[in-house]
Amino acid sequence: MKIGIIGAGRIGGTVARLLVHAGHDVALANSRGPDSLRELVARLGSRAHAATVEDAAAFGEVIFLATPWRSPEALPPTARVAGKVVVDAMNPYSAEGQVLDLGATTSSEETARRLPGARLVKAFNTIYFEHLATRGRPDLPLEERHAIFLAGDDPAAKRLVATLVEQIGFAPVDTGSLREGGRRQQPGTPLYNHPMTGAEARAALAAGG
Ligand SMILES: NC(=O)c1ccc[n+]([C@@H]2O[C@H](COP(=O)([O-])OP(=O)(O)OC[C@H]3O[C@@H](n4cnc5c(N)ncnc54)[C@H](OP(=O)(O)O)[C@@H]3O)[C@@H](O)[C@H]2O)c1
Repeated sequence: MKIGIIGAGRIGGTVARLLVHAGHDVALANSRGPDSLRELVARLGSRAHAATVEDAAAFGEVIFLATPWRSPEALPPTARVAGKVVVDAMNPYSAEGQVLDLGATTSSEETARRLPGARLVKAFNTIYFEHLATRGRPDLPLEERHAIFLAGDDPAAKRLVATLVEQIGFAPVDTGSLREGGRRQQPGTPLYNHPMTGAEARAALAAGG
């Protein structure tokens, strides 16, 4: 598939490497522009190229959002992502690293409001980037792999993201709707930054996690 990745740091850069390795074509964008990504895309090989945010979003059939949630100006133009599967990996932290108080709403519901028409899936939020970088095991059965949680209101979009998760060697685990499932993945929850296998993840959810 063609995949646009907005944010080329710890999470975006790692996702890019894993997806390229799985045979996908990726366009990567950051705040400083394509020239600043030359070395990174050279390391990733011919399936990766640097782009502006708008061009990466236009390129992708699937778009990953891996920028600071507190910076909505990083988001691609709505028209570039309308109708596309958009993966929201962003967590609501302040610049000082404090979890932002969003009241009754959740960060991915807000992202969905900011990108009307996008088929939003919340995923890759609870996994530490170094675990993402090193723990993919396509050779293991799903129940034994490291879990990556997904939430969203579009079943076909979730299935597509789950397939990508499986291709890079992790176990996709559905936590439910964007509202309730997304809440289960917020910072401070039992699922957040607690490494677990697919089997352990299902048990944690069954126990109310
Ligand atoms: N680190 C983790 O383990 C982890 C795990 C799960 C989820 N997350 C979430 O993933 C997101 C990214 O985290 P990270 O650790 O990967 O951060 P990071 O290493 O600081 O990377 C952030 C990326 O976002 C880009 N960016 C920032 N502002 C932008 C803008 N206005 N327009 C375009 N690009 C912009 C940065 O580009 P420049 O460098 O050019 O500014 C950089 O490529 C956050 O929301 C975080 O909560 C992180």
